[in-house]
Amino acid sequence: MEAITITRTASPKEKPDFSTLGFGKHFSDHMFLMNYETGRGWFNPRIVPYGPFQLEPSSMVFHYAQEIFEGLKAYRTKDGTIQLFRPEENFKRMNKSAERMCIPQLDVDFCVEATKALVSVDRDWVPDLEATSLYIRPFIIATDAAVGVHASHTYLFCIILSPSGCYYPEGLNPVKIIIEDEDVRAVKGGTGFTKCGGNYAGSLRAGERAAAKGYSQVLWLDGVERKYIEEVGAMNIMFKIDGTVITPALLGSVLPGITRKSVLEIVREWGIPLEERALSVDELLAALKAGKVEEVWGTGTAAVVSPVGEISYKGEKYQIADGGIGQLTQKLYDELTAVQWGDKPDTRNWIIPIDN
Ligand code: PLP
Ligand code: COI
Repeated sequence: MEAITITRTASPKEKPDFSTLGFGKHFSDHMFLMNYETGRGWFNPRIVPYGPFQLEPSSMVFHYAQEIFEGLKAYRTKDGTIQLFRPEENFKRMNKSAERMCIPQLDVDFCVEATKALVSVDRDWVPDLEATSLYIRPFIIATDAAVGVHASHTYLFCIILSPSGCYYPEGLNPVKIIIEDEDVRAVKGGTGFTKCGGNYAGSLRAGERAAAKGYSQVLWLDGVERKYIEEVGAMNIMFKIDGTVITPALLGSVLPGITRKSVLEIVREWGIPLEERALSVDELLAALKAGKVEEVWGTGTAAVVSPVGEISYKGEKYQIADGGIGQLTQKLYDELTAVQWGDKPDTRNWIIPIDN
């Protein structure tokens, strides 16, 4: 792979107030770009000032949504150094998304190096307040100027950076979610296991309906029987029922979350009974009515570990335990964030430091 060239901006932007960041609203001074052409492969890796793209209106991404993305974070530790959490997992998953969407493969190690180089250039954009981080958004778009339906022969790979706070305005206070029983997000054989933009486009209507009713996100059911629990709009879902952690198995329609994988590793390490399996709404409702649902939480890069305080289904509201954050949820949040922000030694090889 060619060396990454760096062109620094002549007019750095004013940084936002790190105490009121919200999620994904501000973008740093630079971005990483790299092009692809069939027969040539990936070429011209470069860090350039953040700014608009010029694209043909006929670019394939605008018409057939041949696009994939990732989401990971850089964290500033208390001693000022900067580190990434399991970045190679994101680029391995990006390659799985790419394979499904006929997008060419990337070199995982090179992508980690590119991410490190970009974050290093924009290191002042990594916020230093509690629960803040630099959200990293790699994505690939199909750029062939042609409206026939086929896989593109040219692509643009880009990484942008967004200093961010909590994903939910609730912070670590429990969120309310609503089970969607009309629209579906994914089916086996479809694209549910990928991070392609189309998955999210199709989920917007249910998300809007949920928001209008005061719910933060939708809890999706399987796309065939609308019977089994899959995941939430931007996070995987876990339940503690009668002492056992239960989470839907990864069967092709659920995104294999890196936070999910990490939290399950911790749960196993702590010796807590764990089941990755199908969980039906009926089983969940029965457990809720019997008072056996001790805790519910979501996991995601943006959402971290988010307690769920209420689930709604077909107009009925079910409060989870006392509606507050559960003991295990809090412990998992504390353990994961302590490693991510460097407050605890990284005993699991999850951390990649940026050359500080
Ligand atoms: N499920 C969906 C639909 C998501 O968008 C995300 C966020 O990336 C997740 C789950 C959690 O995945 P991860 O933990 O890798 O961020
Ligand atoms: C993430 O957690 O990284 C996500 O991508 C969730 C959402 C912003 C799409």
